Amino acid sequence: MKNTGKRITLGVTGSIAAYKAVELLRLLVRAGHDVRVVQTPSSRRFVGEMSFQALSGHPVALDQFDASAGAISHIELAGSDLMLIAPATADTIGKLAAGIADNLLLSTYLACEAPVVICPAMNTRMWNHPAVQENLATLRRRGVVIIDPGAGELACGEEGAGRMAEPSDIAVRAEKLLSSAMSTDVINKVDLEGVRVLVTAGGTREPLDSVRYITNRSSGRMGFAMADAALVRGAEVTVIAANCSIARNPGIKYIDVTSASDLQKAVEREFKRCDVLFMTAAVSDYKVSAGDTTGKLEREGKNDLQLVPTSDIVSQLQGNGNGGLKVGFSAEYGEDNRERARSKLHEKGLGMIVFNDISRADIGFESNLNEITIMAPGRDDIFVGKTTKRECAERILDQVVELLS
Ligand code: C5P
Repeated sequence: MKNTGKRITLGVTGSIAAYKAVELLRLLVRAGHDVRVVQTPSSRRFVGEMSFQALSGHPVALDQFDASAGAISHIELAGSDLMLIAPATADTIGKLAAGIADNLLLSTYLACEAPVVICPAMNTRMWNHPAVQENLATLRRRGVVIIDPGAGELACGEEGAGRMAEPSDIAVRAEKLLSSAMSTDVINKVDLEGVRVLVTAGGTREPLDSVRYITNRSSGRMGFAMADAALVRGAEVTVIAANCSIARNPGIKYIDVTSASDLQKAVEREFKRCDVLFMTAAVSDYKVSAGDTTGKLEREGKNDLQLVPTSDIVSQLQGNGNGGLKVGFSAEYGEDNRERARSKLHEKGLGMIVFNDISRADIGFESNLNEITIMAPGRDDIFVGKTTKRECAERILDQVVELLS
């Protein structure tokens, strides 16, 4: 989906995430767009206009009372094909919702008839405040596309939701919007309302003794991205998290487990009340056969550890009475193992499987990026080239929505 040569107005407000707007501008310009930047006065305390001017090739619009030659007005800025506000502070969001126009960015917004996308960035407690959420709901109702912040370490040192979406994610969404086929309704998709989603994430641990265990490199990022994306699209989401230390989303219920058998018990219980299961967790295929693993194995002692297979959780899962859809994830070593992934569709009784190649160091484990192929019986494979795990999750959800309907 390439839409070169579109006019974009990029509004930058006073958040530490303003530095990410520089990267966003670079991506938009690289994609061939003509970008005009408008900065609020407080944003200039974080990033000066020179970076934006140098990358966009245009003077930065700063002052609505600037009458000098070459100054661009809010009416001209509003005449673009898309207005992006990234980062958007709680203050700007409040003013947008209230229709206040006391700076150039705000009056541009009021005069803008093109699609508007805003990318909030703030502290978690500010993000969770009803005033902010109600303002966002007002804007959403008026057709503004909100790209929710991710969860993670914030500039203030706290952890939680509020970190502005990644510039690459925002650029992808902007491309979608600029494509004539998409309206803001489609981007603001709420197509999983009433759907109960269960996601397993992370890597299980099988104890060798009280202090040591067998595990794998799964961080839980893909599962957490699935969960975050499903939540934004209206689903009720539960995550069964196996040893995940990444930040959590306040709108999601998390159940923590450690071993494959803990995971199995939780999945069997929760699957009964869910419509779609994303079995994203990397489940250990082996555990120690000894029933009792308490104590500490000594170097001098005789260690004849025997490994036995764990149960294949998703294969053994009994129907949940309402035909729950099971989506498996098949991490295979090497592209030529793609067929191995496909065969698991039938072997494990899955409605869909997502293949990724773990022989690649640039994607998959411990990375924010992935490259996947989505397979489902009787449907063409869908390849999603290297992109963020969040974008992969969106593409998987698109397919799930089609299957559910
Ligand atoms: O490891 P394998 O390639 O068989 O995993 C494919 C799918 O099966 C994944 O969705 C994984 O979560 C699931 N699985 C499972 N129980 C296991 C191993 C894997 O449910 N013991």
